[in-house]
Amino acid sequence: MRGSSSHVLSLLEEAENKERKHIMVHVMDSPGENHLPRVYIQDASGHEGKEVEVQGWLANKRSSGKVAFLLIRDGTGLMQATAFDGDYFNRDKLKSFKAVPLESSVIARGKVKREERAPGGYELELRDFRLLHAAEEYPIQKKEHSVDFLMERRHLWLRSSSQHAVLRVRNRVMMTIHAFLQERGFTLIDSPILTPAACEGTASLFEVPYFDLGHAYLSQSGQLYMEAAAMAFGKVYCLAPTFRAEKSKTRRHLTEFWMLEPEVAFADWVDNMELQEKLVSHVVQEVLEKSREELETLGRDTRLLEKVSPPFPRITYEEALEILKKKEFPISWGDDLGGDEETAVSEDFDRPLFIHHYPASVKAFYMQPDTEKPELVLNDDLIAPEGYGEIIGGSQRIHDLALLEQRLEEHRLPREAFEWYLDLRRYGSVPHSGFGLGIERFTAWVCGIQHIREAIPFPRQIYRMYP
Ligand code: 4AD
Ligand code: MG
Repeated sequence: MRGSSSHVLSLLEEAENKERKHIMVHVMDSPGENHLPRVYIQDASGHEGKEVEVQGWLANKRSSGKVAFLLIRDGTGLMQATAFDGDYFNRDKLKSFKAVPLESSVIARGKVKREERAPGGYELELRDFRLLHAAEEYPIQKKEHSVDFLMERRHLWLRSSSQHAVLRVRNRVMMTIHAFLQERGFTLIDSPILTPAACEGTASLFEVPYFDLGHAYLSQSGQLYMEAAAMAFGKVYCLAPTFRAEKSKTRRHLTEFWMLEPEVAFADWVDNMELQEKLVSHVVQEVLEKSREELETLGRDTRLLEKVSPPFPRITYEEALEILKKKEFPISWGDDLGGDEETAVSEDFDRPLFIHHYPASVKAFYMQPDTEKPELVLNDDLIAPEGYGEIIGGSQRIHDLALLEQRLEEHRLPREAFEWYLDLRRYGSVPHSGFGLGIERFTAWVCGIQHIREAIPFPRQIYRMYP
């Protein structure tokens, strides 16, 4: 094993000769070396005192004549590997570590040792270090870069600790949602992406050529299909990409985003809000408990998140208008609430806030009107605190055939494309409700990040489709 650390030197020489271009080295184990267990960094604590192999990328390095510190990242964590002038390395070899380019792929072998001061609490006492591929000069440096610069290199930016943390939280959010709903008897029903009609207004449709049938639209929402599925399965949901050709350049808008859409038969708008507050609270508490390290990496102040528990405060649209008028917003009955209005109303509350009973005129065609005040609908928007705006839009749906036909006409929607949807009101119609939760807005809020473009691995915005 002793001789193999010279491997680094020879590789570096080779790298320099070839101007460090795309050198892929196949690591050949010499006899007796291939019995070390390969461990993921997150599991290192279970191997204290043992010799192991770690495979990863070089995230950082420091080297003097006597000691070299190599920070290795393997996707599950960061681990410091330490090499000393001694049995395994001499001063020349230690110096050679300086030349290993950042983000090179490496294989490190050594003994796992408890070390309070090292990231993760354990370090690797290096015995052998191999360079699998010497990276070219890495474009993302420790200094500040502009978001544009980083977004152009999103495929590399994903490696940085903050982006890694956000996407691990997103993963936790998704998996917790699935578990929550599955435990409560919901069936996952996947909605189609290519659809014949609009669900959320015709202004934001992406059109796609579609053979002899003319064109299809990328789905704005799986809701209409979930309504059909709810009549077959009772409680259903989809968690899928949705598309909006919205010309909004705000920090809350993407053209492609993921939406959770549960739909429940025999449920009214109040049942709907209860499901929302239980789900949101559960997911937030799970993230706090199980993704604490990621939230720490992001420097998230979690005090407000700790308070997220049911019931959430509820106000009507008209009460929201009163609050806005007191804050001197120029708004009148019938206006929709935009991001600024949502922030101004929600700032008086320290938990997510339901605003319900909006005017029918600003909402989608399928929402059930209030019998007493038919100009209002039985809907709710859930507004996250701290200025994150609407994270959920939900409602009770129209169950009466004649009323739904009338709404389609008022919204000038093509009746033929909706015949199947009308069928749901012809064959055993029931009151039913559902909602849509935007995964990126939710994740951005929980992580406390400014813009939702960092809450999705590869964001699509009106001015960005690359990488
Ligand atoms: O309020 P929306 O438009 O509701 C629907 O689509 C319903 N069909 C859902 C349902 O009842 N099944 O969208 C729901 C949520 C919003 O609250 C927001 O979180 C997110 O989807 N959202 C967006 N997220 C990112 N970028 C966009 N352009 C978004 N538009 C909506
Ligand atoms: Mg909405």
